[in-house]
Amino acid sequence: MTDTPAKPVLLTGAAGGLGRQLAPALAARGWKLVLTDLVPFPDALPEGARFVRADLADGPAILRLAEGCGTVLHFGGVSTEHPFEQVVDANIRGLYHIYEAARRERARVVFASSNHAVGFHERAEPLDDDCQLLPDSYYGLSKVYGEMMGRMYWFKHGVETVAVRIGSSFPRPVDARMLSTWLSYADLIRLMERATLSPATGCCVIWGASANARSFWRQDARGSLGGAPQDSADPFTAELADKRTQAVFTERYQGGGYTDIDRTRPTPVQGRLFE
Ligand SMILES: NC(=O)c1ccc[n+]([C@@H]2O[C@H](COP(=O)([O-])OP(=O)(O)OC[C@H]3O[C@@H](n4cnc5c(N)ncnc54)[C@H](O)[C@@H]3O)[C@@H](O)[C@H]2O)c1
Repeated sequence: MTDTPAKPVLLTGAAGGLGRQLAPALAARGWKLVLTDLVPFPDALPEGARFVRADLADGPAILRLAEGCGTVLHFGGVSTEHPFEQVVDANIRGLYHIYEAARRERARVVFASSNHAVGFHERAEPLDDDCQLLPDSYYGLSKVYGEMMGRMYWFKHGVETVAVRIGSSFPRPVDARMLSTWLSYADLIRLMERATLSPATGCCVIWGASANARSFWRQDARGSLGGAPQDSADPFTAELADKRTQAVFTERYQGGGYTDIDRTRPTPVQGRLFE
């Protein structure tokens, strides 16, 4: 496996929390990057990168941006829970534009999916990549839609997708839940390298987490991508294990606080799903 992609890589959401980690790190490895976001890139532009401001809802702009690119690292969009009308343009319509661009360019999509696509699974139940999708929010539902779009474009057009169900990617874990879900920035960057440089990925799912002993997640396609997470939330256990809330839904389900946002159901589902 070479360490530089043959074609430029398009990074959406470049001005966001994770984009600002990825852009300089990948540029430092000699990658040619096309960066884009709705808002200006706030840092010095890394060497070998260009930035174009665009709205994911603008289909022709996304097609132009993707021209000549071999991979789209799709990190742009609404990244937390919002009312449906605020999620739909960037995360549903925008995703369609990304996939149409990938189809045209024969490019691979690495999709920043989320644990909130499966947030209504109980924490006690370890999940494999083929588990039921149980979104906990309109945001999580948009990630389910994205994963399903990836499958449709794989079967129908041969567009490859690596869907990374990111747990919590922040400088450090800050509560008990993150002892299970934390993804260090360094592990995120290594994962993006593997997802981009692996010769063939097909359409696969990866749990976006570091090597956490308390992980909610088990089997995924990491074996075929190669590489393994090198960081872990475990050293923070003594500090954070008791940092919990009193909220029943939040503590029962993998999606944490998202399962409580705008909730009207008084008690959790008991027993088997859908009973
Ligand atoms: N950080 C995490 O722990 C985490 C966890 C799960 C999933 N994710 C996913 O990873 C991706 C990046 O997360 P982040 O934490 O950097 O989020 P972020 O909100 O910091 O970055 C998202 C970026 O997308 C841009 N954006 C929003 N609407 C847009 C539009 N219509 N057109 C173009 N750009 C638009 C925003 O301006 C922002 O810079 C998101 O897709 C998010 O859902 C992140």
